[in-house]
Amino acid sequence: MRRLLARVLAEPAAKAPSKPAAKTPAKKTRANVTYAAELIRWDSAFTLDHGRIDEEHRKITRLLNMLYADWMGSHGKLSPMRVLDELNTTMIRHFLHEESVMAENKCPHLNEHKVVHRLFVRDLKEIGAMMRSGITDTEIKPQLLTFTRRLVVDHVLTMDHDMAQYMR
Ligand SMILES: [Fe+2]
Ligand SMILES: [Fe+2]
Repeated sequence: MRRLLARVLAEPAAKAPSKPAAKTPAKKTRANVTYAAELIRWDSAFTLDHGRIDEEHRKITRLLNMLYADWMGSHGKLSPMRVLDELNTTMIRHFLHEESVMAENKCPHLNEHKVVHRLFVRDLKEIGAMMRSGITDTEIKPQLLTFTRRLVVDHVLTMDHDMAQYMR
């Protein structure tokens, strides 16, 4: 697992602070800083061999990278909030699709899986609120890394792979 994390993540997720430290909105510090464009690199280990679900996971991964790159000012053409909205919609649609496939295939642990999906929706909402509140790059980066690690690495490699065993 450590090797995979070193291969796919921009850097190991640091401990994410639960809230921005400053009470007054801090200014974003984008100028004159070069950041790695990718938060996470897609790896064949994530593949479930279920075409549409794999494609959805890849799209979520792309959007997480776009959100990160855009926030850090590397691309700058898309507004981070627009990418965030697209990520949110794509993620919710993916969860609903996955849950319907699980129900069709009578996969066990559907309810537990749904609960975890809802927690991701809540967490992304919190990240959006932090971004809107003027959180700095230094503060948002560990939040995004932790979210990405939990969603793309931990969840896909455990619960989604487990689900895939029951899918036709
Ligand atoms: Fe899932
Ligand atoms: Fe999934």
